[in-house]
Amino acid sequence: MAETRGRLAGKNAIITGAAGGIGLETSILFANEGANVLMADISAPALENALAKVRQLVPAAKRVEVMLCDVSKEAQVQALVESVDSWGGVDVMFNNAGIMHALDADAVDTPESIWDLTQAINVKGVWYGCKHAVLSLRRHGKARASIVNTASVVGLVGSATPQLAYTASKGAVLALTRELAITHAREGFRFNSLCPAPLNTPLLQDWLGDDAAKRARREVHFPTGRFGEAVEQARAVVFLASDESSFVNGQDFVVDGGMTKAYVTPEGPRAPAPVNNALKDSLD
Ligand SMILES: NC(=O)c1ccc[n+]([C@@H]2O[C@H](COP(=O)([O-])OP(=O)(O)OC[C@H]3O[C@@H](n4cnc5c(N)ncnc54)[C@H](O)[C@@H]3O)[C@@H](O)[C@H]2O)c1
Repeated sequence: MAETRGRLAGKNAIITGAAGGIGLETSILFANEGANVLMADISAPALENALAKVRQLVPAAKRVEVMLCDVSKEAQVQALVESVDSWGGVDVMFNNAGIMHALDADAVDTPESIWDLTQAINVKGVWYGCKHAVLSLRRHGKARASIVNTASVVGLVGSATPQLAYTASKGAVLALTRELAITHAREGFRFNSLCPAPLNTPLLQDWLGDDAAKRARREVHFPTGRFGEAVEQARAVVFLASDESSFVNGQDFVVDGGMTKAYVTPEGPRAPAPVNNALKDSLD
């Protein structure tokens, strides 16, 4: 494949939390748009499966590699970013890894250890990714770059099914991303937050099961009557990563099917959803 093909042609991209969900869907689209992709995750087996999927779906991908990285450890994030020095340095950094712990709860019941773990991965991990991306961009004399940090709509709206540590961490991602966007604007480094609404994941579907009331309590907030799909987030990340979004900076980029703009939502059947690429054997 020619190096000039695709919306991300010639860009070196790092994606954290790349082994599943949004990170994997983004890895597939980035590779398909001509980027060189370094997929990072804390889980080695999941990362190997994810790499095989990207290679299967994008056989012409120029360069797709994997690296183990726990984003809560600065030395590992530094090694991750510096490993792309030999490619010519990072152009796109997608700080996407994050956790929502099962023991995360409200102000009374959230254990302090869960609070600290959540902030270490979701906030410090994003900070480390931004820090080492900036150092790399300067080292390589880059005049433009895109850093995308995954936050969540819970950084914007409150929920009566609380995960307080998670919510606080995503609010921090929004705030730090906004400030970095302003600080580095004249260097050409853009920073935006991705704010996904809850996604249709196997975990969520298992958890909702046949409980119609539990399901309705959540789905009623979506104008389309359905949760989002990871591929819909990935498509937004391609736009934010590409030069098409050159004047989009410091935004809480909300991809939620209108959920955060809704009051009374329509009745009727759910709108159709796209199928995630990771579930396919080839790209359409
Ligand atoms: N799924 C949702 O409904 C939803 C909604 C809003 C925001 N988000 C956010 O989107 C991001 C991706 O979530 P997803 O739904 O695709 O989740 P996922 O669980 O499918 O993927 C997250 C990936 O991060 C990896 N990871 C976990 N801890 C890590 C660490 N310390 N270092 C490196 N990698 C680590 C996991 O192994 C996993 O592969 C997260 O930041 C999450 O908070 C998800």
